[in-house]
Amino acid sequence: SANGSKPGKTRNILEKMDQSEKNCVVFYGSQTGTAEDYASRLSKEGSQRFGLKTMVADLEDYDYENLDTFPDDKLAVFVLATYGEGEPTDNAVDFYEFVTGNEVSFSNGGGVDEKPLRNLKFVAFGLGNNTYEHYNSMVRRVNDALVKLGASRIGTAGEGDDGAGTMEEDFLAWKEPMWTELSEKMGLEEREAVYEPVFSITERDDLDADADEVYLGEPNKNHLEGSQKGPYNSHNPYIAPIAESREVFTVKDRNCLHMEIDVKGSNLTYQTGDHIAVWPTNAGKEVDRIINVLGLAEKRHSVISVKGLDPTAKVPFPTPTTYDAAIRYHMEICGSVSRQFVSSLAPFAPNEETKAEMTRLGSDKDYFSDKVSSQYLNIAQVLEKVDSVNKWTNIPFSIIIEGIHKIQPRYYSISSSSLVQKDKISITAVVETIRVPGSENIVKGVTTNYLLALKQKQHGDPNPDPHGLTYAITGPRNKYDGFHVPVHVRHSNFKLPSDPSKPIIMVGPGSGVAPFRGFIQERAAQAEAGEKVGQTILFYGCRKSSEDFLYKEEWEHYKQALGSSFKLFTAFSREQREKVYVQQRLQENAALVNQLLEKEKGNFYVCGDASNMARAVSDVLGKIVSEQRGVSVEKGEEIVKMMRSGNQYQEDVWS
Ligand code: 2AM
Repeated sequence: SANGSKPGKTRNILEKMDQSEKNCVVFYGSQTGTAEDYASRLSKEGSQRFGLKTMVADLEDYDYENLDTFPDDKLAVFVLATYGEGEPTDNAVDFYEFVTGNEVSFSNGGGVDEKPLRNLKFVAFGLGNNTYEHYNSMVRRVNDALVKLGASRIGTAGEGDDGAGTMEEDFLAWKEPMWTELSEKMGLEEREAVYEPVFSITERDDLDADADEVYLGEPNKNHLEGSQKGPYNSHNPYIAPIAESREVFTVKDRNCLHMEIDVKGSNLTYQTGDHIAVWPTNAGKEVDRIINVLGLAEKRHSVISVKGLDPTAKVPFPTPTTYDAAIRYHMEICGSVSRQFVSSLAPFAPNEETKAEMTRLGSDKDYFSDKVSSQYLNIAQVLEKVDSVNKWTNIPFSIIIEGIHKIQPRYYSISSSSLVQKDKISITAVVETIRVPGSENIVKGVTTNYLLALKQKQHGDPNPDPHGLTYAITGPRNKYDGFHVPVHVRHSNFKLPSDPSKPIIMVGPGSGVAPFRGFIQERAAQAEAGEKVGQTILFYGCRKSSEDFLYKEEWEHYKQALGSSFKLFTAFSREQREKVYVQQRLQENAALVNQLLEKEKGNFYVCGDASNMARAVSDVLGKIVSEQRGVSVEKGEEIVKMMRSGNQYQEDVWS
């Protein structure tokens, strides 16, 4: 290219496709890796079933000014997740702004052209969540923009719904008619899919696992050399010391962790309301399970080098490494399992009977739901269930790397104020353990249980691993002394008003209170510094005041600093026969709530569970507005909607 960069490093997608002899590019806009995963599945299916020459591309890695020269014998696929309040994912922001901009200027434009993309054939699938207002808005807007520019879409613009929990089935149902139309339009012959590995795995007899150049969980070269360097971000975590870790529930059978992460000297900065990303390590028990079922126990610590057999295939972890380390630190082995992945493993079953069972699971939606998804089985549990006697040694390790998602950092709402403790980031996380109804399976949240294990080890808990979880702290060589966790910071739009004299209303039951502890900590400090601080109202709910009342004593302290401007309304759901939730407390304080929002233009914040709580709170607020202002319920809802679009109403919710 013009700036003399190396071949293979070009930002020109057409040049890249020519260099690597591709005729189909699958772009992804992904935040948590799911869209990326769907993109690679489409890419693989296109190549194995229809002989397309496919590649996967991160939208961030290319420019789009030359999309108008995209020839009509090639295909562009867009797999686009919608993020937060209908926003593009971080890696898709530039692309989104480019194609939806008012004046899209293509490099080859040369004057006004109504249909600059007339040659572009594209396919689109979106990943969204119908519990959010702007459901799948990313794929919808990009589709409209491309069509407006003259591009022709093949198949429908698919929409997967994570909110209804049907993402996988939505995807499977969307892609079949799309492939039919595509093969007609591009004259492709469907053939019997033959598995071709994407990666070559070389066992390195010349290297021991403890050799300096072997990665044992270190995320990149600097970490391997024990000299981490910033900037720290979603590609490069900071291995942060854990300054403090403690339990904040007062009940035996449930845990909620409070942790202080020390970011001093890292140059990591945050603002109150931001998120901290934690890079997890898998539970030892689950690592053992998959290693055993694949028959890798003997050679789990053998050193392997992994290479892409195609120049566009990216190896998702640094190598040389070991089977054990690749699985433990880089693969989402406890994630949900797709029917397509189960199908793809069928040919490698130990015998005909188990092959037939895998094929049935892969093709029969209801059977799969009954046996696998409804029980929340992970992939190793599926294999164990189908064949618990024989090892699945025929499965090529490449297919494991291709088929199991790359492990993703998990985001937590920071529960401290950057004004009060800029070098220490607080995390408040309920440790997840789900007993699956009607099943013996117990699902443990990967990251919260990892944090719990870190806390237990840090405290020298005499029985630190009651569940057989064993975790390496920062890789077996523990290059950094003491207790650490890999983190980075993600900025959010969930923010206090810049003028502290403005009132705020916060609704945060359970661990949804996390960011509000930060908000209140900040306002208490401002009040102590003599600033005028407006009404600070928190609606908090938990089961029982004696069990899971988070920061019970701290609120007293903030009350002293803030005086009568701080009010805490609590809803203890399990202290009486009838459930009491925060919504009821809001309703009881309707006049106050409305006055602060209408007369004093205060902000309204909701944090916590998206699917039930946040929706119910929004509905109740609509009712309050309608009653208090004497307008219709529809008008009340419309006012709430306007509060949202004007950022007076802000959500930080998860599902
Ligand atoms: P429950 O578990 O007793 O039903 C934190 O999890 C608190 O939020 C708990 O008191 C929980 O009550 C409550 N909660 C559960 N579902 C809710 C909903 N739909 N709206 C508001 N609060 C809810």
